[in-house]
Amino acid sequence: MLTQKIEKKLNEQIIKEGYSSNLYLAMASWADTEGYAGIAQWLFAQAEEERMHMLKFVSFINERGGHAIVPSFEEPPAKFDGIKVLFDQVLAHEQYISGSINDIVGLAISENDYATHGWIQWFVTEQVEEEASVQTIIDKLKMLGEKNMYIFDRDIMGLRGAE
Ligand code: FEO
Repeated sequence: MLTQKIEKKLNEQIIKEGYSSNLYLAMASWADTEGYAGIAQWLFAQAEEERMHMLKFVSFINERGGHAIVPSFEEPPAKFDGIKVLFDQVLAHEQYISGSINDIVGLAISENDYATHGWIQWFVTEQVEEEASVQTIIDKLKMLGEKNMYIFDRDIMGLRGAE
């Protein structure tokens, strides 16, 4: 059984994971309209993963006797200031998400909720992988420079993020 504090915190994470999904979907749509098919494909896949993360929180809250609330989401931006800026935004967003996953770990410990503590470890590992995969992309972008964006777009096609 979840304490009210934990249930509230996990429901807040549903909002964050769902927003992440919509943010990456908005980024994918923008990249698509700019002609970056490979980057769009990578972002569409990330949007799906974030939706899957959100669903994991929904299932866990309900399994543990809570009530997962499906929220409305803030509208993400529709336009972005270039590919490098976009991936910097993805990394900053993932770092923010890692911080909120860490907050859940901290709360689970302070509430003596070892079931939630054990369950959330998957997300701790996932965040390490996600930050690393975005950092790799940013490093490649730095090497190539904006003028070689076509090569980068081909390169990222088929590349998968953290599963
Ligand atoms: Fe579900 Fe990338 O945070």
